[in-house]
Amino acid sequence: MTELVSLTKQGDVAVITVNNPPVNALSPGVPEGIGAAIQAIRKDDSVRGAVLIGGGRTFIAGADIKEFAKITSGQRERGIELLPLLDEIEGCPKPVVAAIHGTAFGGGLEVAMACHYRVAAPSAQVGQPEVKLGIIPGAGGTQRLPRLAGVQKAVEMCAEGSPVRAEEALRCGIVDRIIEGDLLAGAILFLRDALDRGERPPRTRDKNEKLGDPETNAPVFAAAREAARKKFRGMMAPLAAIDAVEAATGLPFEEGCRREAELFRQCLFSEQSKALIHLFFGEREVAKIPDIPKDTPVLEVRKAAVVGAGTMGAGIAMVYCNAGIPVVLKEADAAALERGLAAIRKNYASSVKRGRFTGEFVAQRLELIRPTLGYDGFSEVDIVVEAVFEGMELKKQVFAELDRVCKPAAILSSNTSSLDIDAIASATSRPERVIGHHFFAPPNVMRLLEIVRGKASAGEVVASSLALARRLGKVGVVVGNCRGFVGNRMYAQYQREAQFLVEEGASVTEVDAALYNFGMAMGPLATGDLSGLDVGWRIRKEFKHLEPEGVRRPLVADRLCEMGRFGQKTGAGWYRYDESRRPVPDPEVERIIEETARAAGIERRALDAGEIVERTIFALVNEGAHILQERIALRAVDIDVFYVNGYGSPAYRGGPMWYADTVGLGKVCDRVRDFERRHGAHWTPAPLLLRLAEAGKTFADFDAQIRAARE
Ligand code: 3HC
Ligand code: NAI
Repeated sequence: MTELVSLTKQGDVAVITVNNPPVNALSPGVPEGIGAAIQAIRKDDSVRGAVLIGGGRTFIAGADIKEFAKITSGQRERGIELLPLLDEIEGCPKPVVAAIHGTAFGGGLEVAMACHYRVAAPSAQVGQPEVKLGIIPGAGGTQRLPRLAGVQKAVEMCAEGSPVRAEEALRCGIVDRIIEGDLLAGAILFLRDALDRGERPPRTRDKNEKLGDPETNAPVFAAAREAARKKFRGMMAPLAAIDAVEAATGLPFEEGCRREAELFRQCLFSEQSKALIHLFFGEREVAKIPDIPKDTPVLEVRKAAVVGAGTMGAGIAMVYCNAGIPVVLKEADAAALERGLAAIRKNYASSVKRGRFTGEFVAQRLELIRPTLGYDGFSEVDIVVEAVFEGMELKKQVFAELDRVCKPAAILSSNTSSLDIDAIASATSRPERVIGHHFFAPPNVMRLLEIVRGKASAGEVVASSLALARRLGKVGVVVGNCRGFVGNRMYAQYQREAQFLVEEGASVTEVDAALYNFGMAMGPLATGDLSGLDVGWRIRKEFKHLEPEGVRRPLVADRLCEMGRFGQKTGAGWYRYDESRRPVPDPEVERIIEETARAAGIERRALDAGEIVERTIFALVNEGAHILQERIALRAVDIDVFYVNGYGSPAYRGGPMWYADTVGLGKVCDRVRDFERRHGAHWTPAPLLLRLAEAGKTFADFDAQIRAARE
C-alpha cells in the first residue's frame, strides 16, 4: 500500500484504512493506495471481504481541493481520475463495506457509493458539497446517488450541496445500517452477515429502480432548476449538477459518467470555481494570525452576558443561546428589556413556523437567557458583549462598570460599528481584555464577525475571539482599529460612489440593478433603505468636523433624511415602500436628485451598467488596498471573506479583491486613474494598488508573500 493507506486483517476480513489527516482527502497516493489494497484483497484467498474506513476524525472528506488549482494552471497534467478506482472497487468480487464516521463528502461519498455496502456512525454526515466550490461531483456521484437515494434527493443534494445526517441517509437508502458503538466492529459484523447470506456483492450502477421515468422526473428537474436560479443566482455549478443527474435518468451508466465528466471540467475551469476555491481556503486562512501562534491558549466560554437588548443585543443573545451558551441579558429599563425579549420570542416563533427549529429546541434556548436590569450574574461570565447606543461617553461608562463587576479574566467586547476601541478600553483597568466584536445585522443570520483588535488586546483574547466565532457559527475576521474598521470604511466608499452616480445621471433603479446583476444580494441604495438612512446621517453629523474641506460629498441622502425619508422603517427612502415593504421607484426622489445636482452644478449624463459597476466596485478595491497597506486587514483574502459573508458580495466572484485580480490590476489601476482625473482626489490610486499593477502582480501575490513570511 502507501503510507496513506494501510491494509490489515481481522480473520477473514481485510481492513483498508485511509490515514491522510486532517480530513483524509483523496490526495495523490490515497486513490493509488486504495486501488492497491483492492487488488491485494482480490488475490488473497484468505480474505472474504473488506471494510474501508477512515483513520482519525473522519471518513474521506473528498478530493484534495489543493489539486484543482494545479490542474487548472497546467501544473498537474492529469485530472482527478477517480472513476477507474471506483470501477475497481465496485467490480471487486469480494464485498467491500464503507464504514463512515465524520464526513463522507464529495469524492468520499463517491468512493463509499462504489462500495457494495455502507454503514455509518450515528453522528456521520454524507454529502456532495462540490457546488460550493463551483464544481459538480466528478467521480460518478451524480450517477450513483440517484440510484441509491432517488432522483429528487440526489438533485437536492448535488445542486444545493447540503449534507444529510446518518439517520436521513439511512432513510433514503444511501447507507444500509447505522452502527451504534464501535464502528469497525459493527462494520465487520455487517459484512459477515452479508457474506453468510451468500449474495453477490450488489453494484450501485445496476440499481435502476429509483431512476423514475421521464414523466415523473420532468417536474422534479424543472422545480430544481427554478430553485437553483433563485437560490444560487448567477452560479453555473448548481445547474450543471442538475443536468448531470438528469443524464443519469436518461443515459446508460457509463455514458452518464462521461456527461458528468464533461460538465465537471467546464465547471472546474470556470472563473467561478477558482473564486469559490479561493474563498474555501480563505475562510480557513483568516483564522491564522501571524503573531499569534497556533497553540495560544484560548479562554473557554461557559457563560456570557450581553448589555443592551436593542436591535443588535437581542440578536447577539440569540447567537449565544443557539450555540448553547447561557446569557445574562441586561437592559437599562424594564420596558426596553421586555421589548428585547419580545423580539427574541417573535424571531424564534417565526423560525419554528418556517421549520428551522423545533418548539422544543426554542424552549431550551429561551431557558438559557437570564434577563436583568442590574449587573447580577456578571461576576461569573467569561465574556460580555456590549451593544448599547452608539456614543463614546455611554460606552466608556458601561465599560468602567463592567471592569468593576466582571472577573479579571473575562473578555469585554464591544459591538460598536464606528467608535475607537482603544478609547473604550481606556475606561477599564484591563485594556488587554478589551476587543471589538462587531456583529452584522441581523446577527443571528449574518455569518461575519469583525474582530477589532485594539492596540492593547492580548493575543489570547484575539485567539479566544476567533475560537468563539467558530463556535458561534460565524466567520471571525481580525482587523485593526480605525474609523469604520474594515467593513464600514470600505462600504462608505462604495455607498458614496452609488450616490455620486445618481447625482451624475443614473437613476436609483439603474444603480441598484447594475449591482444586483453583478451579483450583489441587493443594490446599494435599497440596502441603505433597509439599514436606515438616518444611521449614516447621524454619524455624518457627528464626524462633520473631521471631514476635510473642499472634498465632494454625496448630497441627496441628507436631503432625504431631512424629509424624514429614513428608508423602509418610515415607508420611504430612495424608494417608496408598499404595505408588503416592496420597493417602488419614486419619481419624487428622481426630482430631488435632479434638483440637488443642478443646484450643485453637477453635469448629468447617461451612465451604463459597466461604468456603475466599475465606479462602485473599484472604489471598494482602492480603499481595500489602502487598508492592506495600513495593515488594518492582514490579507486581501480577509477582505474577500469579509465582503462575501457580511456585505452580500457574490461568492462566485471571490470577493472584491479577487475580482480585481481577475479583471487585472493594471486595468483596474488605469480606470482608477481615469476616475481620479474626472472626479478628483478621492480616487487617487492607493500606493499598494499602483505598486502591484506596475509590477504586473495581483493581490493574491501580495497574500502569498505574507503567507511565506509567516511560514
Ligand atoms: N482538500 C484539501 N484540504 C482540505 C479538504 C479537502 N477536501 N477539506 C478540508 N481541508 C483542509 C482545510 O483547508 C484545513 O486546512 P488547514 O488546517 O491548513 O487550514 C483542514 O483540512 C481542516 O479543515 P476544516 O478546518 O474545514 O475542518 P473541519 O473539521 O471544520 O471541517 C470538513 C471538516 C467538514 C471536511 C470541511 O473541511 C469541508 O467541508 N471540507 C471540504 C469538503 C468538500 O468540499 N469535499 C468535496 C471536495 S471536491 C470533490 O470531492 C470532487 C469530487 O467529486 C471528484
Ligand atoms: P438600539 O438602539 O436598537 O439598542 C440599544 C439598546 O441599548 C437600547 O435598547 C437601550 O435601552 C440599551 N441601553 C442603553 N444604555 C444601556 C445601559 N447602560 N445598559 C443596558 N442597556 C442599555 O441600538 P442597536 O442598533 O442595537 O446598536 C447597538 C450597538 O450596535 C451600537 O454600538 C451600534 O453602533 C452597533 N451596531 C449596530 C448595527 C445595526 O445595524 N443596528 C450593526 C452593527 C453594530
